[in-house]
Amino acid sequence: MSTPSHPQATRHLADAAATERAGAALAALVTPGTFIGLSGDLGAGKTTLIRGLVGALGLARGEEVSSPTYTLIQLYAVDAPCSPVAHIDLYRLEDADDLESTGYWDVVEEAGLLLVEWIERIPAAWPGPQAWSLRLDYHPDGGRLLTLQAPAPILARWG
Ligand SMILES: Nc1ncnc2c1ncn2[C@@H]1O[C@H](COP(=O)(O)OP(=O)(O)OP(=O)(O)O)[C@@H](O)[C@H]1O
Ligand SMILES: [Mg+2]
Repeated sequence: MSTPSHPQATRHLADAAATERAGAALAALVTPGTFIGLSGDLGAGKTTLIRGLVGALGLARGEEVSSPTYTLIQLYAVDAPCSPVAHIDLYRLEDADDLESTGYWDVVEEAGLLLVEWIERIPAAWPGPQAWSLRLDYHPDGGRLLTLQAPAPILARWG
């Protein structure tokens, strides 16, 4: 498995609302088959960003986005060509064998959009070099710094 080697861009996110908006902005850029591996310390804002992204894709009424720390994998039906969206949390997995036993690769095959939290725990979870990488870091001012690695045309449209 290879990790992405795309160009990268960074953006400062002053508060949680800014993190949600950054996620929503990505909704215009993803297409069926997009894989985004999210990394960053506990509480960095990964789920918040995914909430903004999935919400902007048109989450069914009454559905909610929360960390699938115990369920590992959640699927969301959205009103977009990339439906269903798979939201995966690797925090409680140990190694590549766990990917097999949880059915990770089946979901990667079948879902329209893959959003994988804690991907840094299992580098073997990267599906290939086309995947996007999104990192959130704590900023000293209390906000966050978002680093997106994605194909150059995507970064250009991200603005
Ligand atoms: N840019 C930001 N500035 C300040 N706080 C933020 C920012 N973005 C998100 N938060 C807050 O950080 C907290 C943790 O967010 P979230 O649960 O999304 O993180 P996470 O990375 O998914 O955590 P975990 O590692 O537990 O999965 C929440 O209270 C959220 O409101
Ligand atoms: Mg989370």
